[in-house]
Amino acid sequence: MRLVLLGAPGSGKGTQAARLKEYLDVPHISTGDLLRAEVAAGSPLGLQAKEVMARGDLVSDEILLGMLRDRFSRDDTRNGFILDGYPRNLAQAAALDQLLADLGQKFDAAVQLTVDNEQIIERLAGRAKAEGRADDSPESVRHRLNVYDQQTAPVIEFYRQHGQLTVVDGVGSLDDVFTRIVEAIAPEKAVG
Ligand code: AP5
Repeated sequence: MRLVLLGAPGSGKGTQAARLKEYLDVPHISTGDLLRAEVAAGSPLGLQAKEVMARGDLVSDEILLGMLRDRFSRDDTRNGFILDGYPRNLAQAAALDQLLADLGQKFDAAVQLTVDNEQIIERLAGRAKAEGRADDSPESVRHRLNVYDQQTAPVIEFYRQHGQLTVVDGVGSLDDVFTRIVEAIAPEKAVG
């Protein structure tokens, strides 16, 4: 199964991708995690990305595509993947289509998790306290939500128009959201 998880910051993409990875037995590719690993390692790419990420802006399309190409060159993505955090603008959506075409692959579904902004702000304020992620400050969260509305929302529309979008309510317990996703993408595998 090849899945693209879409949704605003804090909508639960990473949380659900970690569960789907076990369930579908495919790798979870989070561009945010890949970038944070570069930042933590202090690599040249990480140094370039650090400030951009802390502000809540998007890192350059070129860097992201390079990272993604590199990740998709590994054998473990051959039988499927869960892509979390990419694409985030229309140029990235086109680049993903091209990358998958080059690999002779197509994704099965783009799943959008919907959560209202009030809950998102509450969730990310909770994570800011618990984990201190640099971009979970109130200012960065506000900015990330604006960037999402301006640059990523058109990607949702793009997939809707191409008949590839599945919308899932992202509010509720982790188990409930997980069950909704599985029922939407792989009903034959859903339990209960
Ligand atoms: P990224 O790491 O992708 O961050 P994000 O999209 O802002 O997503 P989050 O990790 O904040 O939220 P999520 O939807 O994964 O929710 P989560 O499960 O964590 O990107 C970070 C930055 O990297 C970007 O701002 C950008 O700078 C850069 N970047 C990344 N990809 C890029 C790209 N393609 N192009 C350019 N730049 C890129 O959950 C959030 C919180 O809510 C957690 O505390 C969780 O426990 C809680 N939670 C989850 N589900 C529930 C639930 N059902 N009920 C209650 N709480 C819940």
